[in-house]
Amino acid sequence: MHLTKRFFTMNALAVLLSVGLTVLAVIIFVAAYTKVFGREAETKEFQKAFEVRAAISEIKREAQPLKFEQLLDTKFQQELANRINALDASAIILKNREVVYATQNFNRIDIERSLMLSDNEATRDEVELAGKTYMITRVDYKVPAGDPGVLLLLAPIKLKTNVFMVLGIFTVSVFTVVFLLTNFWVSYRFSRGIISPISRLKAAANKISEGDLSQGIAEEGEGEVRELCRTLELMRIKLKESVYMQQKYDDNRKFLVSSISHDLKTPVTSIKGYIEGIIDGVAKTPEKMDEYLETARSKAILVNAMIDDLLLYSKLDLNQLPYHFEKSDLASYFEDCVADHKYEYEKANLSLSLINELNEPVKVLIDRERLKRVIQNILDNAMTYVEKADGKIEIILRETRTSAIIEIKDNGKGIPENKLPHIFERFYQVDPSRKIGSGLGLAIAKQIIEGHEGKIWAKSAVGEGTQIMISLKKF
Ligand SMILES: Nc1ncnc2c1ncn2[C@@H]1O[C@H](COP(=O)(O)OP(=O)(O)OP(=O)(O)O)[C@@H](O)[C@H]1O
Ligand SMILES: [Mg+2]
Repeated sequence: MHLTKRFFTMNALAVLLSVGLTVLAVIIFVAAYTKVFGREAETKEFQKAFEVRAAISEIKREAQPLKFEQLLDTKFQQELANRINALDASAIILKNREVVYATQNFNRIDIERSLMLSDNEATRDEVELAGKTYMITRVDYKVPAGDPGVLLLLAPIKLKTNVFMVLGIFTVSVFTVVFLLTNFWVSYRFSRGIISPISRLKAAANKISEGDLSQGIAEEGEGEVRELCRTLELMRIKLKESVYMQQKYDDNRKFLVSSISHDLKTPVTSIKGYIEGIIDGVAKTPEKMDEYLETARSKAILVNAMIDDLLLYSKLDLNQLPYHFEKSDLASYFEDCVADHKYEYEKANLSLSLINELNEPVKVLIDRERLKRVIQNILDNAMTYVEKADGKIEIILRETRTSAIIEIKDNGKGIPENKLPHIFERFYQVDPSRKIGSGLGLAIAKQIIEGHEGKIWAKSAVGEGTQIMISLKKF
């Protein structure tokens, strides 16, 4: 997902989550409050209020039939005060709107308000006095002398805690905490998905700029950051490849210079020696002269072949030679090969045969000319190193489920086990003192087979013979 989209989504999610969780918390709070306090508190309060109302009504009922003068009796007032105080209520006796007795002191305005509110049947029987809510009960008396007497009974109604305020504070607090937490989470996710990978990317880029291309860049982070990692890693691989290629070019150049100076020196020196022998008159007879010239010529041919091999190997090593792959039938290709070399082998008193163990025709994708060079080099070796009178070389064709296997087997002197892993290396020769070739034949064969995405390896037993194995993908 793109970063901008992700950023908005995550922020929206944080807000929605905060709102959702707050709503949930409020629901739980309300449910818990109702369960723990609500009902019980309400029942108790209701019960108490009911008892107070009942007691006040009782007092009212008892006071109603009395004469006003009886209310002025101190004994009655004492008894009234006891009952009223037990209910945590108040009683006021008024005559002519003047307080004649009160269990509690109220100011004039409060008393007037209570009288006014209780006068009218329609108005509420509740009044707020000195910050408390009271329920008013009133008994009126007719006094012969004029203005009426009144008994006011005021029972306090307990004020409920403001649940809504608590709920409000709770809601705001929960929202703030949840919002902060979700924001922290969003920031953490962002830092993990973007900022941390970018820091690591920066460190990797610094390393690359310092020339250290060895460490790979892991693909991590989100969206564009991930793409950036991938691009940078591709860049690192390309850079590493080009550095490797440059190194290879340098190595190759050094190799050519050193091998030319080393391996070509011997034959060139001997050519020079024979020619000087002729010039200096060492070869006195025409026969001797012919022999010198012939030797110099064969050495020159050898130098030429070596230079050809060197150039071919160098070009193959730098992937400078294009391949022309053709789909070919394996058996008929090797029949041609054997036919090409048969005469040469017969002349050398060696037998060369093809053994086809394929169940059905097998097709391979090969560069016919280059593969010929591989077979030529292997057969040349077999011919050179067989060193037996009854030299026998067999080309055996086999197949596996996915590959064609070509085995070129001789019954020659074989290769010691410790030397076997090196025979495909350039210039490697098991017996360097013999100086038959340049040691490039099998190295060239390996390059070409690898150019076909195939494999080449060898098996050998000293005194028994050598097998060079090639596997090519079936087509
Ligand atoms: N069929 C074989 N039997 C015994 N030894 C072998 C055989 N094929 C290769 N070798 C050994 O492996 C070495 C490397 O072979 P390679 O063909 O690369 O070089 P070379 O034959 O010495 O020189 P070049 O082929 O360049 O003329 C040889 O020097 C030889 O000692
Ligand atoms: Mg060879």
